[in-house]
Amino acid sequence: MTAPRVVLGVSGGIAAYKACELLRRFTESGHQVQVVPTAAALHFVGEATWAALSGRPAATETWERVHEVPHVRIGQQADLVVVAPATADLLAKAAHGLADDLLTNTLLTARCPVVFAPAMHTEMWEHPATQENVATLRRRGAIVIEPAVGRLTGVDTGKGRLPDPAEIFAACRRVLARGSLTQDLAGRHVVVSAGGTREPLDPVRFLGNRSSGKQGYALAATAAARGARVTLVAANTALPDPAGVDVVRVGTALQLRDAVLKAAAEADAVVMAAAVADFRPAEYATGKIKKVDGVEPAPIVLVRNPDILAEISADRARPGQLVVGFAAETDDVLANGRAKLARKGCDLLVVNEVGDGKAFGQDTNSAVLLGADGSEVHIADGPKEVLADAIWDQVAARPADPADRSAG
Ligand code: C5P
Repeated sequence: MTAPRVVLGVSGGIAAYKACELLRRFTESGHQVQVVPTAAALHFVGEATWAALSGRPAATETWERVHEVPHVRIGQQADLVVVAPATADLLAKAAHGLADDLLTNTLLTARCPVVFAPAMHTEMWEHPATQENVATLRRRGAIVIEPAVGRLTGVDTGKGRLPDPAEIFAACRRVLARGSLTQDLAGRHVVVSAGGTREPLDPVRFLGNRSSGKQGYALAATAAARGARVTLVAANTALPDPAGVDVVRVGTALQLRDAVLKAAAEADAVVMAAAVADFRPAEYATGKIKKVDGVEPAPIVLVRNPDILAEISADRARPGQLVVGFAAETDDVLANGRAKLARKGCDLLVVNEVGDGKAFGQDTNSAVLLGADGSEVHIADGPKEVLADAIWDQVAARPADPADRSAG
């Protein structure tokens, strides 16, 4: 398989330095990247940096190597064009079809998917001109990622920050895997739990697990990209908030239960990707448990945590609410998965094999999606966003309105 050809357009904002990280992610994962910085972008990051990181000269001039017709060829030959950061000016030019430099020419000639990752001050982002330009680009099929909220250049904070490079990269990888993205979850509210709960023993110790939260975050980000309203209940994760997602942070299984039940009251689908501790210490020591010479430590007595997945499956907050669970198995994956699906009473169970470096903390995952209707879909090892999309495909295939579903 030939390496996917990516054009990384960089327009003139300070966030251009973050595009270096995005470029590194592309090249390290086997993509061929042609960087096309605008003249303004070169004020922030110079040609040498782009050339060193991409392994080829940056393309900056319409009038260089004219015999190779660069203003047409670069766009025509790309599998994906991503512009990060996309300034208000660049979005305006793209929306109106201007072609006064190599990047805008490339955008006009590209027939592949195009992703824009905007970055600008809040006032510029919220200006009706920019909003109309974004709407125009989206209507034409371009993917415009919502900017993140946070610190901007200077002392300002607000919406307009470039989304995390990891997030832009994940969105691009999805586009390359799926061709284009649809808003097929528009109008739906979904709840995703992610991460791993921690059950405290004393103020400094807890019982925890190895879940990084990456799969749950991939589910939240992909659902938002497909138009859903997303509530992400995150337990002890160190990942940046996905743009456009409501994040509720929790620590223990009981806190996670409260947050999920509250959000589920209005949700069309609940996906329980969190690794929830089955047990918690029966007692919490308010002071640090001390070791005493010559005295054996007291055994830790555990009590059961409620099974949230079984609970929300048995007692649906809304008629027709779809409930998806996860099962990490080390052996007899399919048989154990089917038994768990029946035991939990959910509609879909995502079964993956863990152990020996598989799944936990990794960027890839393979799984079997077992449906209560008997369906079985195998997802080959790949990026966690690809598995997330496959899960949302199953959700999207079931009508949001329960009346439609029973009629079908
Ligand atoms: O029983 P097991 O822990 O293997 O089940 C995993 C699935 O059940 C996951 O979807 C997890 O989020 C959910 N779960 C839960 N409450 C628990 C334990 C697991 O909701 N106490």
